[in-house]
Amino acid sequence: MSEKKDVRILAYESSCDETSTAVIKNGRDIKSLIVATQIKSHQRFGGVVPEVASRHHIEVISQITKEALSEANCTWKDIDAIAVTYGPGLVGALLIGVSAAKAASMVTGIPLIGVDHIMGHIMAAQLKDEIEYPALALQVSGGHTEIVLLKDPVHFEIIGDTRDDAAGEAYDKIGRVLGVNYPAGKTIDAWAHEGKDTFNFPRAMMEDDDYDFSFSGLKSAFINTCHHADQIHEKLNKYDLAASFQAAVIDVLAHKTIRAIKQYKPKTFIMGGGVAANHGLRDRMSAEIAKLPKQDQPKVILPDIKLCGDNAAMIGAVAYNLYNDGQFADLTLNADPSLELPYAKSMLN
Ligand code: KG4
Ligand code: ZN
Repeated sequence: MSEKKDVRILAYESSCDETSTAVIKNGRDIKSLIVATQIKSHQRFGGVVPEVASRHHIEVISQITKEALSEANCTWKDIDAIAVTYGPGLVGALLIGVSAAKAASMVTGIPLIGVDHIMGHIMAAQLKDEIEYPALALQVSGGHTEIVLLKDPVHFEIIGDTRDDAAGEAYDKIGRVLGVNYPAGKTIDAWAHEGKDTFNFPRAMMEDDDYDFSFSGLKSAFINTCHHADQIHEKLNKYDLAASFQAAVIDVLAHKTIRAIKQYKPKTFIMGGGVAANHGLRDRMSAEIAKLPKQDQPKVILPDIKLCGDNAAMIGAVAYNLYNDGQFADLTLNADPSLELPYAKSMLN
């Protein structure tokens, strides 16, 4: 019997403020991963400046392509497909990765695969362990907060979404009020562990019978509390503020996700996205799942912390699944800043 051929994918990610390249073998094995972060350039503006992001991407993308190949001990001849994030994200930023990948594909003749960034965050789990299907994912990042059902490696449906701010966005906005540099999530998470939930911030839509979220009310309650204290010259404890905010975010995320797990009975539970690096959320989700009856407990895959943020390894993982499914792009592939996963049909009625 002939052995299955290894598949090596060179992947690009440039949707926001990290430029990243990676070589992934068989969708699981990271042969190289380069992440060029631009965070320092954006910090003084308190968020990502699209023009600055594009300029940084273009400066480093050729160099980090070479680095990814050489660290993986590969040449173009060893690469079976070139993958790239084509949305969602900042259009100018996406365009740099898409143009680089298309140029490489055109020159080398290596097939091209377009990847959805959100599928990437979810498939970071595949780099850690084997996903058994159906699976359910809590995808929490700076731009998105979604509960996603995975029927198989290439069919995903959103069953819950945020109605306003994404969880990471809320972290960054309240972080700004506390004087924390962008992106604030990691620091707020650390502060939360030093404080207590004393402010009792609102938990929006907890008891609604859908899987949607809303974080803008929590964000406003937080900001109003801080402004009011400022006006009366009262100094609030930043650790308690962080702990109270984080408790409210985690309560809603955990409550709705556990309800979805009870309804859909997935074989695997996955977390993905920048906020999936949150220690409080990781611990809480693992603890809540452990409380379910043994036969209802899905396998839990929490990606490595460094693979929760934007990186090209996760794009290579998705691309391997699309490769096996024969889903290739051609040179008409274009950046799609508002690319969306499909919504579950039942939600469209
Ligand atoms: O997935 P990501 O790198 O970029 C997007 O696709 O949006 O997520 C970035 C977001 C930021 O909002 C950042 O504050 C948040 O992830 N984040 C965290 C933590 N680490 C990063 N939020 C909460 N706790 C953390 N430990
Ligand atoms: Zn992301």
